[in-house]
Amino acid sequence: MASDDTSWSTAEAITYDEFAEKSFSWRCIEEPSLRSLIEPCISETTAALDLGCGGGRIIRLLERLGMPENAIFGIDSDQTLIQIAHQKYPQARLVCQDITQTPYDAMPKIDLATAHFVLQYLSVDDLLQCLAELHRLLTPVGYLAVGLPHPARVAQQAGVSYFAGGRHRIPAPWGGLTRSSSLTVSDYLNCLIEAGFALRRIAEPDIRKCCRHESGAHAYAAGPTRLMVLAQARAIS
Ligand SMILES: C[S@@+](CC[C@H](N)C(=O)[O-])C[C@H]1O[C@@H](n2cnc3c(N)ncnc32)[C@H](O)[C@@H]1O
Repeated sequence: MASDDTSWSTAEAITYDEFAEKSFSWRCIEEPSLRSLIEPCISETTAALDLGCGGGRIIRLLERLGMPENAIFGIDSDQTLIQIAHQKYPQARLVCQDITQTPYDAMPKIDLATAHFVLQYLSVDDLLQCLAELHRLLTPVGYLAVGLPHPARVAQQAGVSYFAGGRHRIPAPWGGLTRSSSLTVSDYLNCLIEAGFALRRIAEPDIRKCCRHESGAHAYAAGPTRLMVLAQARAIS
């Protein structure tokens, strides 16, 4: 992530939270794509879990899409970000926990899971463990929406081959460096399939038209910069 790549100081967590919702990539690339993926999955009775919830920008989107705060669960390992999210969304049920520590105790069945910009930090083994836990928690018709830095962009930013393997350090748009696994698109999709999910939609969203003249656009113009996946839990046959 930033200084030691594994955890943020309080100041770094606050910096990230101030950056997150106003950022070009969120407003102009990720939010419209995630919204269109999950909007059809939400009803009055939906219960959702946001993995790696940070300061709560996905919780805010879920609320905007009509979900009551108290039907939203969140897990994040960063104490500062969980506190920030709790201040903004006092009725959301937030837990400070590492997502690789499964099972997620006391979590009820959920209809929708979101994991936006968090799974890229995990090794393949941890990723598979997390996905298996989400699959266990989701109802059979429940959905999982995953947002990732596009693996081709990660490789390009790290200056290595797409197939290099290992872990990369890449510039974080909120400052410093962040890390990412070097999993390819097919690695991520195959992990989802291996965990029992059926792939429903895959998106490599471009910059929305109304943002293309903003100064931040040039950094994302060469695309693809984001990989978004909607998967559905189903009984493993
Ligand atoms: C780039 S931020 C994204 C936060 C949020 N999903 C959003 O879109 O704003 C990554 C988040 O994942 C959390 N995180 C990273 N590794 C984690 C882990 N192993 N367990 C729980 N949270 C983790 C960080 O604390 C941070 O809040």
